[in-house]
Amino acid sequence: MEFQNLIDFIKSIYKQDFIPLHEPRFIGNEKKYLNDCIDSTFVSSVGEYVNKIEDEFSTMVGSKYAIATVNGTSALHTCLLLANVQQNDEVITQALTFVATCNAISYIGAKSVFVDVDVDTMGLSPKHLINFLEKNCQIINNQCINKVSNKIIKACVPMHTFGHSCKIDEIKKICDEWHIFLIEDSAESLGSYYKNKHTGTFGVLGAFSFNGNKIITSGGGGVIVTDDENLAKKAKHLITTAKIPNKWEYIHDEIGYNYRMPNLNAALLLAQLEKLDFFIEAKRNLAIKYDDFLNNSANIKFIKEPINSKSNYWLQAILLESEEKRNEFLELADKNSIMSRPIWRLMNRLDMFKDAQCDNLENSKYLEKRIVNIPSSVIIK
Ligand SMILES: Cc1ncc(COP(=O)(O)O)c(C=O)c1O
Repeated sequence: MEFQNLIDFIKSIYKQDFIPLHEPRFIGNEKKYLNDCIDSTFVSSVGEYVNKIEDEFSTMVGSKYAIATVNGTSALHTCLLLANVQQNDEVITQALTFVATCNAISYIGAKSVFVDVDVDTMGLSPKHLINFLEKNCQIINNQCINKVSNKIIKACVPMHTFGHSCKIDEIKKICDEWHIFLIEDSAESLGSYYKNKHTGTFGVLGAFSFNGNKIITSGGGGVIVTDDENLAKKAKHLITTAKIPNKWEYIHDEIGYNYRMPNLNAALLLAQLEKLDFFIEAKRNLAIKYDDFLNNSANIKFIKEPINSKSNYWLQAILLESEEKRNEFLELADKNSIMSRPIWRLMNRLDMFKDAQCDNLENSKYLEKRIVNIPSSVIIK
């Protein structure tokens, strides 16, 4: 298929002069709740909307607890602290991810170790994970020790790329066997399920993001989910400056963080959460449109939800034949005022992570050169 055909198709769907990759939609109670929040004067880190969001969110994803944070990165950072990841520990993740996953690991002074993804999910590969562990690691005193670095592999952070779930049940089984704490980076996968269970609820902890580009947004925001009461309490404590409840005294019992989601953001988020089902349906319909259009194309492959997954299709993606073809498509889209983006540069190719231990990353390298995101905003008729 000529790239121009796809460009024309995108224009016919969106009918806009400039077509962004992903625009938020505010079509519900956003202004009402924001006004109410302002009128209440509780705009900061205490307020009814924060409590409401946590209740609604845990019910929605099916976790016992949800703790709202200022963004997805702080949610991930807090999860790693809760997993007791310490300076010089190692954390396995994928090289094919947004930089925030690895930044959070680095905030602790821990090191990222990169294991390959599966081509069908674009998320961490259980097959490559077990191969890596069997080749490089051994269990000593219930800890996973990396024989190459002599460091402890404390945690594993798989990511559900563009809302498509990785094979998280297999990853969980491997992590349990190898005494590795599982944290899901579910920043992109709100509303996505694997084998009928919500992503983010397989690991001990899951982290979500509500950045402006996500399926729903609070401006900036995140949530940690868990079924573990102690971890939930500790999370709330850590993100509210580790302050001990007291009528008036400021007593803090450890170094804490100012990571609590403000009520103002929670008000916006609640209105967005009320529209989540509608957004997911719209995105799944958009995926059907793209897939139908590209069905017989040999050179542009539409990325569909992997087997066993029900995806939110947060960002729609296509796979092109080569890096040259990818660049050609990006140029043409740009010339036509259509925003499209290549998948992330692999983390081990960024300066900060260039010394990280990696497996061969064959699939990650293949996808890095070929995947492009195309306009994905919810279409309001
Ligand atoms: C995979 C992934 N992890 C983490 C984050 C960080 O979330 P935030 O931007 O809310 O800090 C994002 C999104 O921005 C993301 O896509």
